[in-house]
Amino acid sequence: MDVELVGHALSTLPEDDDHPYRTGPWRPQTNEWRADDLTVTGEIPADLDGVYLRNTENPVHPAIAGKYHPFDGDGMIHVVGFRDGKAFYRNRFVRTDGFLAEQEAKEPLWAGLAEPPNTSLRPGWGARGGLKDSSSTDVVVHAGVALTSFYQCGDLYRLDPLTLDTLGKSGWGGRFPSQWGVSAHPKSDEHTGELLFFNYGKEAPYLHYGVVDSGNHLVHYIDVPLPGPRLPHDMAYTEHYAILNDCPLFWEPDLLAQGVHAARFHPELPLRIGVVPRRGTSEQVRWFEADPTYVLHWVNAYEEGDEIVLDGFFQDDPEPRDRGDGSYFQRMFRFLALDRMQSHLHRWRLNLVTGQVREERLRDTVTEFGMINGRHGGRRNRYAYAATGVEGWFLFDGVVKHDLETGHDERYAFGEGVFGSETAMAPRVGSAAEDDGYLITIVTDMNRNLSECLVFDAQRVGDGPIARVALPERVSSGTHATWAAGSSIPGWASAATIAAGLRMGHA
Ligand SMILES: [Fe+2]
Repeated sequence: MDVELVGHALSTLPEDDDHPYRTGPWRPQTNEWRADDLTVTGEIPADLDGVYLRNTENPVHPAIAGKYHPFDGDGMIHVVGFRDGKAFYRNRFVRTDGFLAEQEAKEPLWAGLAEPPNTSLRPGWGARGGLKDSSSTDVVVHAGVALTSFYQCGDLYRLDPLTLDTLGKSGWGGRFPSQWGVSAHPKSDEHTGELLFFNYGKEAPYLHYGVVDSGNHLVHYIDVPLPGPRLPHDMAYTEHYAILNDCPLFWEPDLLAQGVHAARFHPELPLRIGVVPRRGTSEQVRWFEADPTYVLHWVNAYEEGDEIVLDGFFQDDPEPRDRGDGSYFQRMFRFLALDRMQSHLHRWRLNLVTGQVREERLRDTVTEFGMINGRHGGRRNRYAYAATGVEGWFLFDGVVKHDLETGHDERYAFGEGVFGSETAMAPRVGSAAEDDGYLITIVTDMNRNLSECLVFDAQRVGDGPIARVALPERVSSGTHATWAAGSSIPGWASAATIAAGLRMGHA
């Protein structure tokens, strides 16, 4: 392994830190590495070609009022690239305005999610207002550039997907909606090259939806009026429609009027699913009503006859109560534990002719963070690859391949003290079958105090990894990840892509 320390951030966190989401598997990194020709146990297939990108919440200062929330950490992006049977790794902080300002100030400047907004020392960002836009939630690749985003809306930071250098913010030809920002979970459609996105806030119309074309121009942006401020986290799309949502879990209006942001579930209200043609108008948004729940993440959606089939994770308990058990931090962050939310695979069938919704509980087992082969985004898919959670904590202890046709699940557990990241699916170069490819995840191994990138054969997940790639330093736990094929990245050259280019040249 050829390793070089290329950067180091100032950290003012105390050495005796005891916050469970800043220590143990969540211990933040301050080092930035370049590592090539990584040491591999097993074998990296030559037809695994592209990059696995992962975002992590990586705090470097104590919380301004002493109440750190795990979503407050600064975004740090990790890339593990696979080319010609070898792997490389880079990790870099996203150079957000907030991160740079706090590095310069050598102290926290903004209140976190669990703190009073008026403790912020400078004007902030986010749907709530007064937060630091840490761009630490999500990462997607659009038009050959990695885009990081923040769950409460903010800028999209543009990163070179190979070097992870921050290239600035998305401007979309001067049309970026800076006043609202963009939410995490914009969707990069591999079929059209478009980026579909939404944003939300506390002012009417409370939600917008938009489309950026493959040339990175904002070409569509509409109001999607809601009854009040809502907290949508994800969206979905099909070949012809975008799918938005109004979940009955939102800031309590009476408290919000007093400046207090307290999310409450309203089981007396339906889940409303908004369907709009991808370039449709505000008037064309159709709302479908379904059983009340909060959906953190959708898996996919596609059209089938008169219906839209929408798969996602239904929460049996969107507002888990404090049962008085577990540690202070487990009780405080019970909303992050999959076992407390009881999230499980669910299907909504939206009939575009009758306006009716048919719901089907697909699994009783608790999983979340479902990923698919990106080529099936908006198209029919058979498989979803999801995470299992550690009881009481926001940690993933295994991966599950859900077969949505047969109902069969195939599982792999990382083992005691080993925690994974969101697992992306990398189609094999030249593959045709949906599950002909590899699953990629980064694990944080507390037993051995190290991190590895694991590669699974997506057709034999239960057999365990076919390759374990050693990373230079233990990586913090985190949330979202993505896969981008080498052929989608400018400047990417490998034996496989060169061969593909030659074949195309001869055709
Ligand atoms: Fe998310």
